[in-house]
Amino acid sequence: MKGLLIKDIFQKKPLNNEITIKGWIRTKRESKNFCFTEVNDGSCMKNLQVIIDDNLDNYNDIIPLITTGASIEISGNIVESPGQKQSIELHATKVKVIGTAPADDYVLQKKRHTFEYLRTIAHLRPRTNTFGAIARVRNAMSYAIHKFFQERNFIYVQTPIITSSDCEGAGEMFQVTTLPMENIPINDKKIDYSKDFFSKKASLTVSGQLEGETYACALGNIYTFGPTFRAEHSNTTRHLAEFWMIEPEMAFCDINENMDTAEEFLKYILTYVLENCPEDMDFFNTRIDNTIINNLQNIIKDKFIRIKYTEAIEELTKSKVDFEFPVKWGIDLQSEHEKFLTENVYKKPVIITDYPKEIKAFYMKMNDDNKTVRAMDVLVPRLGEIIGGSEREDNEKKLINRIKEMNLNPDDYWWYLELRKFGSIPHSGFGLGFERLIQFITGMQNIRDVIPFPRAFKSIDF
Ligand code: 4AD
Ligand code: MG
Repeated sequence: MKGLLIKDIFQKKPLNNEITIKGWIRTKRESKNFCFTEVNDGSCMKNLQVIIDDNLDNYNDIIPLITTGASIEISGNIVESPGQKQSIELHATKVKVIGTAPADDYVLQKKRHTFEYLRTIAHLRPRTNTFGAIARVRNAMSYAIHKFFQERNFIYVQTPIITSSDCEGAGEMFQVTTLPMENIPINDKKIDYSKDFFSKKASLTVSGQLEGETYACALGNIYTFGPTFRAEHSNTTRHLAEFWMIEPEMAFCDINENMDTAEEFLKYILTYVLENCPEDMDFFNTRIDNTIINNLQNIIKDKFIRIKYTEAIEELTKSKVDFEFPVKWGIDLQSEHEKFLTENVYKKPVIITDYPKEIKAFYMKMNDDNKTVRAMDVLVPRLGEIIGGSEREDNEKKLINRIKEMNLNPDDYWWYLELRKFGSIPHSGFGLGFERLIQFITGMQNIRDVIPFPRAFKSIDF
């Protein structure tokens, strides 16, 4: 049996079969007539223990090369292990060191490193247990997300990464340009974008929503899943400058159905990870945060709380807690408020709706009070906001007013406005931050540790 993954070997236990594995050495221990080594190939958390007997032909040549981090190909027989720690082990009949890893230089020796340090060696950290597990959980979650939407007939749409419109209207965009930085063409005291690559100012997208809406207004229910970019000057454990977002957009759908979908979606993908990544989840539960599995199980069981922004403000005021950001109607909820509501008041996920229009994006549907909009944020314990969404303004005139009120230019959104002119429909959607989700699932404290190569304010190491 060739090309078996270590994961398959533990599952199928192909006893007394000759197999070949390829992977990287994690540990080595020498005794009198043997060498024990543990090999990991990334397919699962567990290492396969290999016994190399000293009557192997090239024993004396290869043993010095078997060091932590070296890559290796080993053939041999799988047998039941007499040891307590593992059920099976591999008795080597052929060993080939493929790439050596000089022990003096290889930093991932036995000792444990801080996550801060590991961030500076992002090219090697996937070889650690934690980062291997995160990569596998990210993979399983990506699959579960597509599975959820595909089972429900949502169409996957690829929205552009380079765009000329600001979806959130917050001006937090990275510009994309080929203009020479040292000699920017100026015309009438302004940058002359006619000389730029697109003959127009262009940026990296902050969200695929607006383009997603055009497809929802033609195909029904759609979703996007792609990278988004925000030049927010937020140096926190929950913000990245480049992160992945999942954005479903649903035709003929109001805010209530939007909330139902968001709740069903979160519960589905959390169930998926518990069922399909038990070994990795067990690791996070033991090594990172021992409340994780229990919390996720409770979240899947319980109904989310749904309250309006005004009620949330009342709860916070009633609490008499001395928050860093004082609470009054009209403020944007800060992470301390979100955490208080989910951890102290309700002890479960909370969906807050009907926020003041001033603190939300221009596209959200106005309520009859003319003060609040049909926004919905899903907040979870430990993290705060994980999903942001809304019902969309489907009335052309009201939308133009909102665009102007937010000091944006309706001309920039002409095509978006036409969706309201031709066959307008009630529609809604939301965005789930993929890295916030992974943080929530794994219990990792810093969002920079749940994406392979983090980009954050003043920080791009790779
Ligand atoms: O609340 P946001 O800004 O909503 C939107 O972008 C809408 N266009 C979504 C929609 O309705 N289609 O962002 C959505 C989610 C947040 O709830 C959060 O989980 C995540 O994206 N997010 C970030 N994650 C990491 N780093 C950042 N800087 C993030 N900003 C938002
Ligand atoms: Mg938001």
